[in-house]
Amino acid sequence: MKWKIPLFDLDYNKQEISAVTSVLKRRWLTMGEKVEEFESKFARFVKAKYAVALSSGTAALHLALKSLDLKAGDEVLVPSITFVASVNAVLYCSAKPVFVDSTSLNDFNISVTELEKKISSKTRGIIVVHYGGFLADMDKITRLTRKYDLFVIEDSAHSIGTKSGSKMAGTLGEIGCFSFFSNKNLATGEGGMAVTDNEKLAKRIRLMRSHGMTTPTWERFKAVAFDYDIVDLGYNYRMTEIGAALGLEQLKKLISNNRKRKALSKIYIDYLSGVEQISIPFKNHPRDSSHHLFPILLNKKIDRRSFMQKLKRKGIQTSIHYLPVHKFSYYRKNYPQKPGNLPFSEEIGKREVSLPLHPRMTKEDVLYICQQVKKLIG
Ligand SMILES: Cc1ncc(COP(=O)(O)O)c(C=O)c1O
Repeated sequence: MKWKIPLFDLDYNKQEISAVTSVLKRRWLTMGEKVEEFESKFARFVKAKYAVALSSGTAALHLALKSLDLKAGDEVLVPSITFVASVNAVLYCSAKPVFVDSTSLNDFNISVTELEKKISSKTRGIIVVHYGGFLADMDKITRLTRKYDLFVIEDSAHSIGTKSGSKMAGTLGEIGCFSFFSNKNLATGEGGMAVTDNEKLAKRIRLMRSHGMTTPTWERFKAVAFDYDIVDLGYNYRMTEIGAALGLEQLKKLISNNRKRKALSKIYIDYLSGVEQISIPFKNHPRDSSHHLFPILLNKKIDRRSFMQKLKRKGIQTSIHYLPVHKFSYYRKNYPQKPGNLPFSEEIGKREVSLPLHPRMTKEDVLYICQQVKKLIG
């Protein structure tokens, strides 16, 4: 399918091509110098002491939880309006995810009021997702986690570049987890990063990303070391040099691309505000955003499927962020929820549609989409 306006698009040009070509010419493909450079530039960008490059955002979440010694029987508070990986990572550690509702139909982020209600003696921490890049209420969340001595892991998959005062999303809790999946603001195909100011946690994540091995292949290649020991149960969650080279180029464009996303979102808001059949969540969000997504909420009476189908016929790709995790068959079977436990999440899951948003879009693209939306439901 060739879309007139796809939901997302890569902002790749000759810089990315030559970065990859130069890696290929150097003939070292797995974790080496480029990965080290990407880690140090990314750490500087988010103002974190340590950054560990990984094979995906999911790997970052998994190792973040492992490094905090999450165990069977522990509970972790999670949103339901998120990508399933935020919750799966808790299950990888044999711990129990406890779903918490969204704040409202206007703010899909985890509700601070509901969070406090769900804290039990088994609660170890919270996974906060800054939905669509919109910063969650971290001041209130931090107050809560201090009061109950809980950890915060930020799932910052959407919020690369989102600010919180002088700090950045991903550095407001114990560990921040980023994803560089193809559709993200910084895209390398697959890839992720865990950031922290805690040396012990960084060391543990670094160790577990490569089988719990004391010396990486790169150091043995450089003849810094000849043998190794296995001192922890680890995984293969390494990033490639190709991914890191792409990440370094994408990082250079991030601030200006996030600015473009913001300007495009503003045009959407200007043209769609006042259309009766839809509402625009986060329209007056009081905190920063990297504008990863542009979500709208359809009126209850509108058939979402047919709305998306009709936009498809006009060449406009749309998506749903998200079907609530607790509604998926696997979760319904293993973690059934009482009816009415997560009312906002369920409503968002039924009525949300994401419109295209990426830095290669033009004002005319946004106007075309707004025109088609209005024609359909105006
Ligand atoms: C909110 C959220 N969390 C986690 C992930 C997982 O990241 P990855 O696909 O890099 O494993 C994603 C990616 O789509 C995401 O959107």
